[in-house]
Amino acid sequence: MDYFQHTPVIRTQRLHLRKLTMKDAGDVFEYSKDPLVAEHVLWDAHRSVSESKGYIRYMMRKYRYGEPSSWGIVWDAEEKVIGTIGFMWIQPENAAAEVGYSLARRFWNRGIMTEALQALIRYGFEEMHLNRIEAIHETDNPASGAVMRKCGMLHEGTMRSKLINKGKFVDVELYAILRRDFQK
Ligand SMILES: CC(C)(COP(=O)(O)OP(=O)(O)OC[C@H]1O[C@@H](n2cnc3c(N)ncnc32)[C@H](O)[C@@H]1OP(=O)(O)O)[C@@H](O)C(=O)NCCC(=O)NCCS
Repeated sequence: MDYFQHTPVIRTQRLHLRKLTMKDAGDVFEYSKDPLVAEHVLWDAHRSVSESKGYIRYMMRKYRYGEPSSWGIVWDAEEKVIGTIGFMWIQPENAAAEVGYSLARRFWNRGIMTEALQALIRYGFEEMHLNRIEAIHETDNPASGAVMRKCGMLHEGTMRSKLINKGKFVDVELYAILRRDFQK
């Protein structure tokens, strides 16, 4: 299934989601250099704009090969990339996928990731014909769990010491939404 051959622009009330380009490197660096943004994700805060360029290059390769990838989140009011959201993996044989995201700190707690994730979930069910969309967050990152719940995802359990992040084992919460939950 070539889900990503034609990664479309997805519009929401205040945002649009689109493929990243090299021109976004400055915007991506601006928020990815923030240690608080990187605290609960599996990448380290970027130390230079060339690290942000490397990340974008990696995403562009995924677009080219039609692999699961992330959209840039554009804040329409400033025409600026303020985060990313996308699919970490897809299992066509199970019609399942996992989503992940991050957002510039000055935009936190304004409902922005909820708006982006709702749009991506809709895209996943309506255009990609998925049956199950998962997301995980570190137990000590409760804001991310709040986003998942606001998008109708259900908590399915805690995975103890599931990942190593920044050199430490971390507990992780698993959430998912099924097509039948979405249709209700
Ligand atoms: C997690 C993150 C995506 C949230 O995005 P956001 O746009 O701020 O999310 P929203 O504004 O849609 O919702 C945030 C919710 O978390 C709640 N929240 C914020 N801080 C919280 C905390 N410390 N404990 C509990 N809830 C918290 C807010 O009150 C809000 O819920 P509400 O609308 O019910 O009041 C954003 O903080 C982020 O990108 N963090 C850095 C990267 C990251 O952690 N990515 C996720 C990896 S799983």
